[in-house]
Amino acid sequence: MYSWLSATVSRRGVPHARKLAAYAIRLAAIAVPAALPQNLQHQVMGLSFPGPLGLAAGFDKHGTLYHALPSLGFGFAEIGSVIPLAEEQRSLGLNAVIAILSRYPRPHAIPLGMSISMNRATPPAQMADDYLVCMEKLWKYADYITLNLGVRAGPDLHLPEHRATLYSVLAATKSKQVRMMTESGRGCPIVVKIDQDRGDTNNLLACVRDYAFDGLILSGGAHINEGKMMLANLQHVSNKMSDTMPIISVGGIRTPQDVADRLSAGASLVQIYSGIVESGPLLPRRINTHLSTLATAC
Ligand SMILES: Cc1cc2nc3c(=O)[nH]c(=O)nc-3n(C[C@H](O)[C@H](O)[C@H](O)COP(=O)(O)O)c2cc1C
Repeated sequence: MYSWLSATVSRRGVPHARKLAAYAIRLAAIAVPAALPQNLQHQVMGLSFPGPLGLAAGFDKHGTLYHALPSLGFGFAEIGSVIPLAEEQRSLGLNAVIAILSRYPRPHAIPLGMSISMNRATPPAQMADDYLVCMEKLWKYADYITLNLGVRAGPDLHLPEHRATLYSVLAATKSKQVRMMTESGRGCPIVVKIDQDRGDTNNLLACVRDYAFDGLILSGGAHINEGKMMLANLQHVSNKMSDTMPIISVGGIRTPQDVADRLSAGASLVQIYSGIVESGPLLPRRINTHLSTLATAC
């Protein structure tokens, strides 16, 4: 029933389908809450995750759905991407998001990741400042912070022509992390999201490793038939990196077996966006049941 409704609404565009899914999430969290199976708990980046499935960035841009996610079976959530100043159809901006996040008491029921990015109009020489201001203001609300390296219609730090800017962002955010840790007395892991659909990312992967970030989000293969390629890429990167940092896999995950496959290929955690839009808010529960059964059988 939900899938049919979503397919119908999707014909009017992605934002309409997302809105339907967001409404269904709120409803399901009240109507049919359920606990996560105990045997899915694990530690990643020094944080305790009740389950490996998270909501990907872009779905809950401002944190208004976060409170509903634990009872649906999500083990973590990534809010944002947040940018310093409001931009139409993109984000309400940093201050609006902080006003929402400040309502959530700590400790959080599930780890809360904050994805941060830059405003489209920010010139390359000042891009690092956009990330730094987001880090500074979101530090006390986030359990981890994700550097989103760019937007399709704006400056994209995946591209070779922005390499100098990329280095300045990575170097500045890394040293800010060390400073914030000393000042606040509390650490906050930083992960970098790399989109493998944007050309050769080998150099980027090496940078993330060299700067010793705490984790990597490997994204790509958003179309369902690209899932197999994504899995092969994940295996390849995991062989190179996972001994040094955990990998979160996102893109093309639609079924419980997709999640099991990503975890077997080396991901420590996975994230989902389109699968929730298409299949609805009960999908995480089906995924968790599948994973829990596999874990029990092992
Ligand atoms: C409408 C839309 C908005 C998105 N916004 C963001 C964003 O703000 N930041 C980000 O890091 N990823 C964003 N993403 C990417 C998702 O987090 C995810 O990486 C991508 O959709 C692939 O996962 P999926 O196949 O489960 O959809 C967005 C995706 C969609 C479809």
